[in-house]
Amino acid sequence: MAIILQTVLILGIISAVLALALSLADKYIADYGEVELKINDEEPMVVAGGNSLLSTLRDNKIFIPSACGGKGSCGYCKCQVLEGGGPVLATELPWLSKEEVESNTRLSCQVKVKQDIKIQIPEELFNVREYDVTVESIEDVTDKIKKIRWKLPEGESITFKPGQYIQIKAPEYDGGDDFDGSDEEVFRAYSIASSAGDHGYVENFIGYTKGICSTYVHKIMKEGDIVNMNGPYGDFYYKEDDGGPILLIGAGTGMAPLLSILYHLRDNNIDRKVRMFFGARTPDDLFVLDEMKKFEEELPDFKFMPTLSRTTPEMNWTGDTGRVTDSIDKYVEDGGGNWTAYLCGSPKMIDSIIEHLTAKGVTEDRIYYDAF
Ligand code: FES
Repeated sequence: MAIILQTVLILGIISAVLALALSLADKYIADYGEVELKINDEEPMVVAGGNSLLSTLRDNKIFIPSACGGKGSCGYCKCQVLEGGGPVLATELPWLSKEEVESNTRLSCQVKVKQDIKIQIPEELFNVREYDVTVESIEDVTDKIKKIRWKLPEGESITFKPGQYIQIKAPEYDGGDDFDGSDEEVFRAYSIASSAGDHGYVENFIGYTKGICSTYVHKIMKEGDIVNMNGPYGDFYYKEDDGGPILLIGAGTGMAPLLSILYHLRDNNIDRKVRMFFGARTPDDLFVLDEMKKFEEELPDFKFMPTLSRTTPEMNWTGDTGRVTDSIDKYVEDGGGNWTAYLCGSPKMIDSIIEHLTAKGVTEDRIYYDAF
């Protein structure tokens, strides 16, 4: 028995050493030269081989969403690789459905560009740009959420749809004795809170989650700093549909894309009934209250209806209590009322909101959501 275990152990060590040697050789010795990268129906471009598809695209100013710095742990960086991508790796499989594997969808951070390669990406990604933005202001809107206003470089502009998001790059930083530092650059996605009519600035709400980027924003970054941003991304945005009433439902930083939608309705004089439910625990968790008051004056039929789940008599709260799903049960009429709903919050919250909306009769094709 001892001999068998010893043999297995030795074989395991040999395989690990060989795998490491192969990967080091691939990284430092292999020279893939130049290869052709063909995207959609565009003319092929000549690129240096040897890097991941994600970074090769980024080096050529084509940006695919990524939230884990290319580690294969966010599943954001999908695209179709039609030729030259090699076999799907085990690291990709947890992120790909059966249909995606069948349609040659891959994680672009896991695909290495070693030969001529042909890929398909959504046309809108050609609109994604990279900017070195200046931190114009940082404002605490709650004890855990900051509102950041970024100024684009002079002469540059961004075009996005209300509801979309951008990515911020947190550089390496030292946390000293107070918090963990980071020895890598990472991108994180944040929904845009500002008006799509404002092309020179972007605003985001960034909550403190102790993650690399939120720690950078909350503890390191200061006004005047230059930060790398790219975007816009996302298929969650305001749809010009049949003009029926709109429900906006969010919590925490999920208010950002909903706020951007409200700016769009106001700036374009769109006359629709709008109700916004904001789920929070206590009055201290509520923010954007001034903006909501203004929207109630400026939009033809808008009501802001926050609901709090942890009130005490000392808070003197006179509004709704409970969860946002209680507001749905209370205010959404049976039969669905022709509402179109936009939701933004945690996956768990979104699931339960969808359950309550559909129980009321709102059809799934009228429910749009951004779960993060
Ligand atoms: S960048 Fe996160 S999985 Fe590829």
